[in-house]
Amino acid sequence: MNSALKLTALVLVFVQLLGAIHGGVYDNTNLWVASDKTLELPESAVLGGFDPYGYYIYVGRVVYSSSILPARIVPETGTATYNTESLSNSATSYQVLVANETVSYHWVRSFDGYREKNAVSVGTSATNDRVFVCRAKTDGALLVGTLYLAQRVCIIKYQDLPLRKFDKYEVLIRKKELLQWQPFGPSN
Ligand SMILES: *[C@@H]1O[C@H](CO)[C@@H](O)[C@H](O)[C@H]1NC(C)=O
Repeated sequence: MNSALKLTALVLVFVQLLGAIHGGVYDNTNLWVASDKTLELPESAVLGGFDPYGYYIYVGRVVYSSSILPARIVPETGTATYNTESLSNSATSYQVLVANETVSYHWVRSFDGYREKNAVSVGTSATNDRVFVCRAKTDGALLVGTLYLAQRVCIIKYQDLPLRKFDKYEVLIRKKELLQWQPFGPSN
């Protein structure tokens, strides 16, 4: 090994150690339900878009190499595809984001890594940065991607398609629903 290679190897080991210590922490603000091909998708799963084949994509997350990453879940095939800032991959077990009576999810237009209020984080990356959920229209599809605020772009790499970076995209945000107004609610 020449010294440059050695140094690279050392840095990689160090980054992985850092990741093991700090990275890959799941967000607990939202409700994520573990699922796979054998389970029916929860009724209130959050829609993310559609893939190039026309299948609906639901918002999910996976853990990959001490990063938690947004995932594109296609219930018909029971797969979740996802990407880091450089590579794409797929998983057969994943977590699905679900809404309920008090919390709903919406897509809002955003740009340049702006920190939208109540943006949905899936968890943290290997470098301990929070990872957010974005989406953009590309390749005949509407695909969920990975948003690292520091990089200021929504990164989408779907299967063998080229890596795409968007400085204008949509971000998933959480909204609290007001409970239905009750004229004679519980008195206390
Ligand atoms: C809805 O989900 C939120 C976030 O996960 C949770 O805090 C809240 O208790 C849930 N509400 C109901 C009615 O289940």
